[in-house]
Order: sequence, then structure tokens, then C-alpha cells
Amino acid sequence: MKKLILANLKMYFNTKEEIDNYLKEVNIHKNNFIVFPSVIYLDKFLKQNFICGVQNISASQSGSYTGENSALSVKNLGASYAIIGHSEVRKNFKETDEIINQKIKQALQNKLIPILCVGESLDAYHQNQTKQIINMQISKALKDIDKEIIVSYEPVWAIGTGITPSNEEIDDIINYIKILFKYKVKVLYGGSVSDKNIQNLNNINSVDGFLIGKSATEPSSLKKIIEVARM
Ligand code: PGA
Repeated sequence: MKKLILANLKMYFNTKEEIDNYLKEVNIHKNNFIVFPSVIYLDKFLKQNFICGVQNISASQSGSYTGENSALSVKNLGASYAIIGHSEVRKNFKETDEIINQKIKQALQNKLIPILCVGESLDAYHQNQTKQIINMQISKALKDIDKEIIVSYEPVWAIGTGITPSNEEIDDIINYIKILFKYKVKVLYGGSVSDKNIQNLNNINSVDGFLIGKSATEPSSLKKIIEVARM
């Protein structure tokens, strides 16, 4: 089965030259992945018919929110998806589960598909609390929400570290997440997915796709990942 490939470019590209080069190199793959560039580059990708999302949205609808981007504004520009609750946003912006709940509501009201990121810290992993944490994150994030969303399981300790859980561990958590939903929810895996481990990770049947950071910023790695997970 073809898996979804999501490229979270984070804040890796900081010059016009870098982003233009990337656009040129990945252009031939644009029907095989969804790109989440920094909002300032969103229009560049949309103009070249990439399927796009944003890395974060405001919890509010409109008004005096300096530095924020509303769900309506990114939808209006042409984005289709919004990553919500990424562990870097949770940490750097002190984003709570209640704020995440507001953001998911904003996304759904404005017809953006929310990608809810959940995952445990290394301490919680060692204390065997992964399922408990994920259950709490999901139930708080989805309070009073019955519309469909996508979930991405991202252990905090696997993001940007080169370390991943075993396939058995990932499969166990993905299946656990799936039974928490009444509908056939899509669950992705994210955290150090690369051209080196994609062959192995792609064997996990329960995984519906991958949310990729660093490796997605390298066109040759992205190409390899697409070849394995999409062809
Ligand atoms: P990484 O990031 O692939 O660089 O580990 C994944 C993510 O943050 O979603």
C-alpha cells in the first residue's frame, strides 16, 4: 500500500537560493508528498502546484495576535493541512493540550486537515508510560471534536536524534492509537525517518505514512524514501 509522505521543512531553509534550489530538485516528486514549508515560502510551493500544509496555526480566529497565522489565511492561500501539537511547538511555545484542542477546532472550521502529533518523552518511555501519555494527549486534543483528523506518532526522543523505536514498538503504539478512534484513523510515524531506515520502517503494515523532518530537506534522501514508500 502507498504510504503518505509528509515533509516538515521546519526552519531549515533560510535563503531564497536554498529554497529555490530545493523547489527545483523536488519538483518531479510533487505528486508523491505533502510539503510543510515555513509560511513565508508557502506561496512559492503552491504556485508550482505542490500539495501543502503549514507547521502550526493560531488557536484564534482573527485579530490582534502578533506573529501568528490564522487557519483561514493559510487555507485561503491554498494550504490543505496543518501540523498541530508538534513537540517542538509544545516545548518552544509552551503549547498546552487545551491550546492544541483550540487549534484543531480552528483547522477543522476552516477545512484544513489537522495532523495531530503525539508522543512521549524519553523518561516516559523508560517508565513504560507511552500509552498513558498518548491516550491523555489524544483525549484532551480532541475534546468536543468528532470530525476526522490524522495522527502522527512521534516519540520526542526519536526526533532529530537518529534513534527510532523498534518496528514492534511502533506497531504496538500505532495499533493502540487506532483502537482509540471510532473511525478508520490514519496514523503516521515520525522521528528520524531517513533513506537509511525507510526500507525497514516501511515493513510496518499498521503505519499509514511518515512525517519526515531533516531527511526530507535533502532531495536525494526524499527521493529514496518516496521510492520505497510510494512505488
Ligand atoms: P526528524 O523530524 O525527521 O528530523 O527527526 C521529524 C519531525 O519532527 O516530525
